[in-house]
Amino acid sequence: MKALILSGGKGTRLRPLTHTGAKQLVPVANKPILWYGIESIVAAGITDIGIIISPETGEEVKSKTGNGERFGANITYILQDKPAGLAHAVKIARPFLDSAPFVMYLGDNLIQNELGEFLNNFKTQNMDALILLRPVPNPTAFGVAEVDEQGRVLHLVEKPKVPPSNLALVGIYFFANSIQSAIDRIQPSARGELEITDAIQNLIDHQKHVEARQIMGWWLDTGKKDDLLEANQIILDAYLKSANAGEVDAQSQLSGRVEIGSGSKLINCTVRGPVTIGEDCHLENCFIGPYSSIADQVTLIDVDLEHSVVLQSAKVIGIHQRIVDSVIGQRAYVHTAPQRPKALRFLIGDDSQIAVV
Ligand code: TTP
Repeated sequence: MKALILSGGKGTRLRPLTHTGAKQLVPVANKPILWYGIESIVAAGITDIGIIISPETGEEVKSKTGNGERFGANITYILQDKPAGLAHAVKIARPFLDSAPFVMYLGDNLIQNELGEFLNNFKTQNMDALILLRPVPNPTAFGVAEVDEQGRVLHLVEKPKVPPSNLALVGIYFFANSIQSAIDRIQPSARGELEITDAIQNLIDHQKHVEARQIMGWWLDTGKKDDLLEANQIILDAYLKSANAGEVDAQSQLSGRVEIGSGSKLINCTVRGPVTIGEDCHLENCFIGPYSSIADQVTLIDVDLEHSVVLQSAKVIGIHQRIVDSVIGQRAYVHTAPQRPKALRFLIGDDSQIAVV
């Protein structure tokens, strides 16, 4: 059994963050989203992992994630020259997959469930495909499945206007090698992509054994800002442990679960967990409220912030209004202007979203 993680794509919905970096490397609780997927796959006993990368962000994914040693895995990178669809990614991974069955994992997805039980079902029942489904309130935004009482999949539709059920396809799939012949039988969709839903539908049309299991735990698709903040909240809630490798002065107060990385300094700060602060940060005269993740080398001075994600090397200085529900990109600089008359002076990148009151 092998694994194929998809970490290419365009990432249009997370712009501007994804203008300069891979969306799968955006951190959740200070760890790249992609790494949670790798860890979950390794925990299920699969260590031979292929990662699909794009020409734009592939090098960054490779250099950050490495050859797999840190995860106890062996990682092979597979370059997809254009984001031609999930089934296209499976097609170009043929030399790596070498006819082995595999789990396919979308690199910006996270689920609460462990993979082991699904993997067991898939293997022992000789399925051609096993898909995971989750009830959602807005099925029109997803691939949706119609399933019979035995869990057999009858029909799949991509973003249906009239959904046949509220069961959305979660971005984790188990496939036998027979998916490759199905991919060879399908044509690109109206948006020009080889769709994995079409390939699975083709397996069903050829009377292949396709089953589904419902997951009830959380499923996060971190492709958008609010999903990213929600993912950050859930992961901090579920996994954060207090640890302090930094320096916290006597005027500072920490309460709840707070993690502080080495080389970080807190001067006259109040931090209410769950909060994670990376390495080599400088925080002075700040209030940091629950569900905040501060990446490495961040500077926050005279700042009041909660339920937010601040990425590496960002600086926020002298903002006297509470910052909430915000994602602040790498190396971003937010500060009050020293000049008078008081005015807003911006250098704002493409696709940024700023709300001023
Ligand atoms: P999507 O989120 O469906 O597509 P996208 O990355 O192009 O994002 P957006 O809608 O914001 O423009 O992709 C799901 C995952 O699969 C994501 O991690 C990117 C990856 N992917 C590939 O590796 N190759 C592809 O051809 C496509 C379409 C996606």
